[in-house]
Amino acid sequence: METVVSGIRPTGELHLGNYFGAVANFVQMQNENQCYFFIADYHSLTTHPTPADLHGNVRKVLVNYLAAGLDPDKSVLYIQSDVPEVTELYLLLNMNAYMGELSRCTSFKEKARKQPDNINAGLMTYPTLMAADIILHRAQKVPVGKDQEQHLEMTRTFANRFNRMYNVNFFPEPQAYNFGQALVKIPGLDGSGKMGKSEGEGNAIFFGDSTEMIRKKVMKAVSDGGPTEPFQAKPEAIQNLFGLMKVVSDSETLNFFDEEYNQCRIRYGDMKKQLALDIDRFVAPFREKMIELNSNNDYLRKVVNSGAEKARESAAATIREVRSIIGFRAF
Ligand code: TRP
Repeated sequence: METVVSGIRPTGELHLGNYFGAVANFVQMQNENQCYFFIADYHSLTTHPTPADLHGNVRKVLVNYLAAGLDPDKSVLYIQSDVPEVTELYLLLNMNAYMGELSRCTSFKEKARKQPDNINAGLMTYPTLMAADIILHRAQKVPVGKDQEQHLEMTRTFANRFNRMYNVNFFPEPQAYNFGQALVKIPGLDGSGKMGKSEGEGNAIFFGDSTEMIRKKVMKAVSDGGPTEPFQAKPEAIQNLFGLMKVVSDSETLNFFDEEYNQCRIRYGDMKKQLALDIDRFVAPFREKMIELNSNNDYLRKVVNSGAEKARESAAATIREVRSIIGFRAF
């Protein structure tokens, strides 16, 4: 059993792209690993120092991930700011993190370009906070996308540096969790490659979308005038519709429309109607679970309190050792 840590940015609702691209695998991971999943609310302040509704954002993400299948009986689910031990480790790691390496970090440079009026110290030390999140539980594995690989590499640097500087073998070197072939890229509805919330209104289907909203978004999806020759290659927008159908519809349905396309008989209106129905059927249980969770604040409180308690237990053990390794002593 390996220890896995992953942080979740509190940035709104889950869509099908998030689900198939990562979250469905988090759900699987829980069965074979000791997982710590937390909502990275401290991190969010590096770009949004005065959020309009910090608690609301965190709550929304919690509800979405619980609905998706993160299970508080299998994993430790917590809010980053409920575990103050992480800030102590962050402080200690910052003493051995250098301006040079922090300022060369790609995500720092990118964010500094985007927010030139707020290049704050938290932004620059984002990688040390993330390293603290991970090694706080002495994690072996971190499920990361491409955009987080450099952060994970820096985590290894900080962990190894700690071991070397204090001449111990305390922190394991965390590795990327390998999903193998499991990750599925979900196309968007706007004819472009990827489902994402920043790609514009209507491109993504969210867990909370109503039947009517789903129908509207799908009917508006980009298509074209249809093929003119049998077995013509599918243009990107059409491939996307089939790609979506592949994950939510049964294979007979998919084969039927594929055949219709190949024989130049396809009516995209019909295909979209079917696709909307199948997406709705897929999303419905998540949507219902979210409604149930949203009306049960007692349950949410119980989840985060018990998560914080377990996370703090693991964190406190690490901090105790770290303090002793560095040389803090009681009188
Ligand atoms: N930086 C990650 C992201 O942007 C979020 C994150 C914070 C994280 N701390 C982490 C991910 C620790 C994995 C492990 O998505």
